[in-house]
Amino acid sequence: METKDITFRTRKWVRPEDLNANGTLFGGSLLKWIDEEAAIYAILQLGNGRAVTKYISEINFVSSAVQGDLIEMGLTATRFGRTSLTMRAEVRNMITRQSILTIEEIVFVNLSTTGKPEPHGYTEITYDRDRIPTHHLTETLQQD
Ligand SMILES: CC(C)(COP(=O)(O)OP(=O)(O)OC[C@H]1O[C@@H](n2cnc3c(N)ncnc32)[C@H](O)[C@@H]1OP(=O)(O)O)[C@@H](O)C(=O)NCCC(=O)NCCS
Repeated sequence: METKDITFRTRKWVRPEDLNANGTLFGGSLLKWIDEEAAIYAILQLGNGRAVTKYISEINFVSSAVQGDLIEMGLTATRFGRTSLTMRAEVRNMITRQSILTIEEIVFVNLSTTGKPEPHGYTEITYDRDRIPTHHLTETLQQD
């Protein structure tokens, strides 16, 4: 899959607390950000706040980032399964577009209220906000 298929959404400013002992971006911080980004992506694609990380494939730390770098994270859905959603992730330098990390497969599973895998019924990416979980919509109505 090409980078052009990915929409880069979240941007981060690499700060001192995000660094490892070598003074470059700590891989654990990056994975935490990507997992959260994937969770939000899955929730908006599957219309369900109960979506959990099931599997993360090989992670390629392509190049490092340093303090002060502006980086951006992108995801795209590559496969809609019966209960699962597979995504591809890339993180890159916002300015130079140098790739920092790629993950071919991040699989999230759609869960029922009892925590069991549940069919989500979707087969294609939505680019609209038409699958927002109902409890978020209820919150919006209460604020209006
Ligand atoms: C998510 C969970 C309920 C799934 O249970 P399970 O018994 O593996 O469920 P299933 O075998 O029915 O698989 C569910 C889906 O995951 C997919 N899947 C299961 N194992 C997989 C693997 N190793 N790699 C990729 N996909 C996998 C299946 O193909 C299936 O997808 P499909 O319905 O689209 O075909 C269970 O594994 C779990 O609770 N895991 C912990 C999740 C969690 O807490 N994550 C947060 C990080 S700790």
